[in-house]
Amino acid sequence: MSKKPVKKEEVETTGHSWDGIEELNNPLPRWWLWTFYATIVWAIGYTIAYPAWPMVKQATAGVIGFSTRAQVAEEIARFEAQNGPMRDRLVGAELTEISADPELNSFAQNAGGAVFRTWCAQCHGSGANGAKGYPNLLDDDWLWGGDIEAIHTTIAHGIRNEEDGDARYSEMPAFGRDEMLEPEQITQVVNYVMSLSGEPQDASMVEEGAVVFEENCASCHMEDGTGDREQGAPNLTDAIWLYGGDYDTLMDTVVNARFGVMPSWSYNDRLSEAEIRAVATYVHSLGGGEAPVVDE
Ligand code: HEC
Ligand code: HEC
Repeated sequence: MSKKPVKKEEVETTGHSWDGIEELNNPLPRWWLWTFYATIVWAIGYTIAYPAWPMVKQATAGVIGFSTRAQVAEEIARFEAQNGPMRDRLVGAELTEISADPELNSFAQNAGGAVFRTWCAQCHGSGANGAKGYPNLLDDDWLWGGDIEAIHTTIAHGIRNEEDGDARYSEMPAFGRDEMLEPEQITQVVNYVMSLSGEPQDASMVEEGAVVFEENCASCHMEDGTGDREQGAPNLTDAIWLYGGDYDTLMDTVVNARFGVMPSWSYNDRLSEAEIRAVATYVHSLGGGEAPVVDE
């Protein structure tokens, strides 16, 4: 086409005119028109080749059989196949040997960290430092035990849940609500508990509180208050609190009791044995992990 400027007289107008400005009826540029036709041809080709038209249940499949779902499944299968041998080694190893094998340990740490961020962080915190009622997993203060076997059992079966018959279980009585102790005795024993970890307390109540403790609490929290892992009864002397060591929180604990629940992770294959071992290894490595118990 010629490049010379289009003269108004050579072009028809559309007949539209506003305030004396007329609309010229110039043809569309060729290149534009051909690009436009090309996109239509491309679109028709695309809808034939690829899934496109929505039907009642799913879209038309497309002649080349492409599916994003199948692609993802393939990717997953590829990773599974890659990790298969390591996973088998993880499940086959003795729990106590995992952390000593550098290759296995690094695999478990990575996989375990990912499991933790997905399944555990919402209760135990993304840094595993816990919250009220949800134990901190970074320290060496353990309710149910901190060697790898104990941690593995806790995670596999959970705590006080109703779904797993092997769940860890114990129940502190609600001494106030169920009227097992007089209000006065509760005040005394709370002050005694405060004295165990050096919280400021009413010293005049401590002596009687000790008697109440000995008769009602020592069977689980032990005579000296250091707790019992068989029953998940916390150590009351270390100033590390699951629920809190101030007067009001302690009153609430002793009057109403607590009942911390954790789901079972092996139940219904929520997590595979390899994933449970990986996350147990991860938790054990966070700072509070203990050496295996040796029976002799
Ligand atoms: C729904 C909340 C919840 C989720 C999710 C959860 N936990 Fe727990 N977990 C708890 C509670 C509550 C306790 C303490 C129960 C008690 O009082 O004995 C606990 C206790 C533990 C303990 C025992 C700590 C000790 O001191 O003995 C370990 C280990 C643990 N959780 C690991 C995990 C791991 C690993 C995951 C993820 C696979 C996880 N938890 C997911 C609520 C949860
Ligand atoms: C049958 C065993 C049992 C008896 C008896 C018992 N407790 Fe407990 N106590 C537990 C368990 C288990 C927990 C942890 C509860 C949970 O996580 O749900 C606990 C938790 C506590 C806590 C919370 C500690 C924290 O870190 O926040 C306090 C305080 C406490 N007990 C005090 C007492 C006192 C005082 C008595 C006696 C009047 C008593 N307990 C009797 C089992 C017992």
